Amino acid sequence: MNNWEKGSWRDFPIKQQPQYQDLELLKKVESELSSYPPLIFAGEARSLREKLAEVEQGKAFLLQGGDCAESFDAFNANNIKDLFKVMMQMAVVLTFSGGCPVVKVGRIAGQFAKPRSSDYEEVNGISLPSYRGDIVNAIDFTKEARLPNPKKLIKAYNQSSATLNLLRAFSRGGMADLNQVHSWNLDFIKGNTLGVKYEELAQKISETLEFMKACGITSTNTPQLNETTIFTSHEALLLNYEESLTRQDSLTGDWYDCSAHMLWIGDRTRELAGAHIEYFKGIQNPIGCKVGPTMHEDELIQLINTLNPNNDQGRLNLIVRMGVNKVADIYPKLLKRVKDEGLNVLWSCDPMHGNTIKADNGYKTRDFDSILSEVKQFFQIHKSEGTVAGGIHLEMTGQNVTECTGSQSAAITQEGLKSRYHTQCDPRLNADQALELSFMIAETLKEARH
Ligand code: PEP
Ligand code: CO
Repeated sequence: MNNWEKGSWRDFPIKQQPQYQDLELLKKVESELSSYPPLIFAGEARSLREKLAEVEQGKAFLLQGGDCAESFDAFNANNIKDLFKVMMQMAVVLTFSGGCPVVKVGRIAGQFAKPRSSDYEEVNGISLPSYRGDIVNAIDFTKEARLPNPKKLIKAYNQSSATLNLLRAFSRGGMADLNQVHSWNLDFIKGNTLGVKYEELAQKISETLEFMKACGITSTNTPQLNETTIFTSHEALLLNYEESLTRQDSLTGDWYDCSAHMLWIGDRTRELAGAHIEYFKGIQNPIGCKVGPTMHEDELIQLINTLNPNNDQGRLNLIVRMGVNKVADIYPKLLKRVKDEGLNVLWSCDPMHGNTIKADNGYKTRDFDSILSEVKQFFQIHKSEGTVAGGIHLEMTGQNVTECTGSQSAAITQEGLKSRYHTQCDPRLNADQALELSFMIAETLKEARH
């Protein structure tokens, strides 16, 4: 650790990076970004670590969710507001029905860079560099669009800054007021079974608030009733961007990646001797690491010891993404080993990335039943081991999209996918599906508590 610097990752082998042509421009952009204000304050990252430590102890639940990839085109207040509302809905369902406080972390305000399975994409015999997210290049299948452009780092920073500003405004300005619980129900959900189920719950909350008010407990003396905190997170894939926003905290002298409260390492860039692990070693934010089906037991132990050498609680979130058919086989062994070694980690379930399939009509999709089943198995495995199933990691949106098939209320067929398929990258749960999933999790949490 003695020779760690925010740029020391540059001496290590790195995967999943764009091939910039104009290196002079890249350097200029990095130096400009380095002079910009941080997006978050180190104290906020420390406060998230404390909350995640509570999650590890089973005293709270982590809800992490948002787009697979944010886009420059879909950047508007409505999209941010609707995601905010669904997160609030899911959180009250989990808190009220599940009896568990919820730590809310968005995949937002920086979730731009994407790892890809292939460096090139081929269409009709033409091969071009793959789309790597709006912070790198553009999605259109033309040579110009696919050229990585360093200036996009600045645009991503500006969009993240405006997004975070609105999230902070919603969190403190009245949108999160529990008296608004009815208004979080999005129009397209209101009429269906799920909307009705939510409305019943909202009604109970309103009655509870009336009762509390009569007892003298209001938002004037209890700000928790009308304020919330949504933390931000993204995959720290493009280290040029992350390094430029890495700052030394004036209070502690520690280094923080001030591009988001929490950062994670993807399943494709987590090799121990690689640049990403080197970078993550030196930042003091709470961090995550994806754990896919190729992870070996010894490798996992080494990874944990490398990323969390002091065995702190609240530092390391392992985001498990095995897939519905593999989780029961692979996961229990890893979990048991980590438990036996006495290592403190927050286990959360990403039921999205191991369940991506191609529909008959070519759309990349995920079936709601597979997602649900992986989540259920995840909880079951923790129950058997007597360990804490700490949270859930989802790709979701507040929009009425048709990207994942199935679910009770949305009932999207493979044929129906094309109607509103808008994602930049992977298929997301729509608000309906996300809410349905949270009702299921709430039931499980309730059982676990009794
Ligand atoms: C993602 O979270 O969007 C992602 C690419 O996940 P993973 O690293 O698990 O494949
Ligand atoms: Co994804």
